[in-house]
Amino acid sequence: MNRRAFLATGALSAAALAGSVYFAGRRGAGHFAAPDGAPLRDHAGARGLRYGCAVRARHLAEDPAFAALVTRECAVLVPENELKWEALRPTPDRFDFTAADAVLAFAERHAQAVRGHALVWHSALPAWFAGGVTTRAQAEAALRGHVAAVVGRYAGRIGSWDVVNEAVEPGDGRADGLRVTPWLRLIGPEYLSLAFHLAAEADARAELVYNENWIELDDAGSDRKRGAVLERLARMRADRVPVHALGVQAHLRAERARGGPERLSAFLGEVASLGMKVLVTEMDVADSGLSGDVARRDAEVAAVYHDYLAAVLDQPAVTTVLTWGLSDRYTWLSRQRPRADRLPVRPLPFDAELRPKPARHAIARAFDAAPRR
Ligand code: XIL
Repeated sequence: MNRRAFLATGALSAAALAGSVYFAGRRGAGHFAAPDGAPLRDHAGARGLRYGCAVRARHLAEDPAFAALVTRECAVLVPENELKWEALRPTPDRFDFTAADAVLAFAERHAQAVRGHALVWHSALPAWFAGGVTTRAQAEAALRGHVAAVVGRYAGRIGSWDVVNEAVEPGDGRADGLRVTPWLRLIGPEYLSLAFHLAAEADARAELVYNENWIELDDAGSDRKRGAVLERLARMRADRVPVHALGVQAHLRAERARGGPERLSAFLGEVASLGMKVLVTEMDVADSGLSGDVARRDAEVAAVYHDYLAAVLDQPAVTTVLTWGLSDRYTWLSRQRPRADRLPVRPLPFDAELRPKPARHAIARAFDAAPRR
């Protein structure tokens, strides 16, 4: 179903169900009742998919209503920041697992799976890293120590890891398309395969994921990046590097992501033909480029969720969909992409009062229509 058809049949029939005059904008989006109140995890589960979201330990601990929503909706959680180097490595020789352990404990109390994010990334490195890790030998040793300690600690409990995050950036000008990062500068392009091998050594059963941003649009920039990612994945698979899945971040902007992502679909087919699975790892739809009216914004954001997921879920290799947060109460986009008019941003399936939004219904609808896994 295309976006227009979705707006016509999906959102409007839901509005009709609620007896609301949603599109006339006379009542707030909060009155847009759910056509079906089943948790997103159940909509996904019925098709053999998993749904979950990124969470922060502090929100789970301090906001019981939010924590209850996370418990209800999600089959899988990913700590938003708690497993990054910056969080785990206050000094070169000390690990602090307190916050990560809290997310794990929460998930285990509620029988939720956990994904780990992220073992190797150019961002969120602690301040001491630049001064303390300056040679190839030091970088390799740091990587070995980190992956062994972190993946080892959670072996059997974190079933899926983002091993390398955002390693490709054609704009950096290298022929191989790799991003110029501390890891690349110190170790060379082999740092990717090294990281995957180390992760597999620390937990042979974990799903090991290469996670990437800005590969989802039907434009030239995404094309170049997809090309470089595919080349890298194909090479690693040919070299028997244990990389099992591609993570597509899917941080979308509503004003740029209209229409179905046809080229992404074709690309996912190629990834699948390498024998790999695909996860949507960090989906949100920024509304800071849309005009202020809340009902219209919510409808646009919902349409982007629907069209994007409908296209992506057509690919049977896609196993999992995670949103980067669950409620507009807590979203990194409040700081990352604030609105010029200073109205609160509304990029997630539930609003700041924890009420379901059109985006939630759009996601449910896309799950319902997905081919069964
Ligand atoms: C973001 C978090 O959401 C923020 O809280 C933090 O300040 C910065 O990082 N791609 C990623 C995530 O892989 O780790 C980022 O998370 C969002 C973009």
